[in-house]
Amino acid sequence: MSDFSQILGIETSCDETAAAIVVSGQTVRSSVVSSQIELHARFGGVVPEIASRAHVELLTPVVAQAVVEAGMENSDVHAVAATYGPGLIGSLLVGVSAAKALALVWDVPFVGVNHLEGHLYAAFLEEPSLELPLMVLLVSGGHTMLVNMKGPGDYEIIGSTVDDAAGEAYDKVARYLGLGYPGGPIIDELANEGDPTAIDFPRAMRNDGYDFSFSGLKTSVVNHVRKHPDVDAADVAASFQEAVSDVLVAKARRAAKEYGSKGICIGGGVAANSRLREAVLDACVEDGIQGFLPSRAMCTDNAAMIAAAGWYRLHSDGPSRIDLGANPSLSL
Ligand code: KG4
Ligand code: ZN
Repeated sequence: MSDFSQILGIETSCDETAAAIVVSGQTVRSSVVSSQIELHARFGGVVPEIASRAHVELLTPVVAQAVVEAGMENSDVHAVAATYGPGLIGSLLVGVSAAKALALVWDVPFVGVNHLEGHLYAAFLEEPSLELPLMVLLVSGGHTMLVNMKGPGDYEIIGSTVDDAAGEAYDKVARYLGLGYPGGPIIDELANEGDPTAIDFPRAMRNDGYDFSFSGLKTSVVNHVRKHPDVDAADVAASFQEAVSDVLVAKARRAAKEYGSKGICIGGGVAANSRLREAVLDACVEDGIQGFLPSRAMCTDNAAMIAAAGWYRLHSDGPSRIDLGANPSLSL
């Protein structure tokens, strides 16, 4: 078939080994995600060498499962898309090499996909009728940015973090509090039992431009707990979460106003956060714009978003060169 509609996506940029089949950049036929969280948890963070080895072991069965769950055979795949950056170099190389090998063996095109572009397309997989321009708040373990999405492939980063990413702040605070890894989901749950107004943590740069800074907030949590060793951990979690969400939402809604966005959409692992989701929706209702929250599974790393972005790339730019390398610091 010549329209390359059935795309196999592969995602191995960090600690999820994922494969998916998506038709025409829109219909998810299968999406398999194998998380390595248990392998890394006892080290309190992702260990790059362990991640690459796990990808090597898991990728072949994960790809096979994605093809079977889609009700397809290998010969039904029209193109193979894989994340080629940003991410951990060893992990990226596993996915990129496997995708190229499959594309060569199956005699179909290979497409390299920017992981961040994948996160931008995730929302469209669930809501194809989203109106543009859209303000996308992309918040993950490695990135925190505001993107003005004007059209498919047409976007502008209007702000990003000057130090820690939002997810990184969650992970570091959780580690400091001895809560475990990854910190986001644990703090999210613990915060349910705490008072978000208990501690007034700083909101760095809240009303100033579109860049973010979370390193001071993290330090201030550490200092507070040192000074008040008996403080309720749930109150710390809830107050920290409130400070992060408050800054993220304040900037996103201000940006949406300035750029005339039809709505605000969130993406990346931190977009799974309960308080952030609630605060984005409240802000959008108040401002009379659309608020779109992809499902939690679509917010965190997955390969369906990579297959979708790959479909758009293939149709706009054609296949990638087979010598395309992995690029750990690729930007949007
Ligand atoms: O997008 P993602 O799956 O991987 C990266 O590309 O980084 O994001 C992972 C990050 C981690 O820092 C994790 O702690 C955070 O997303 N995260 C959350 C939640 N679920 C995951 N942060 C806050 N609340 C959550 N519910
Ligand atoms: Zn991600």
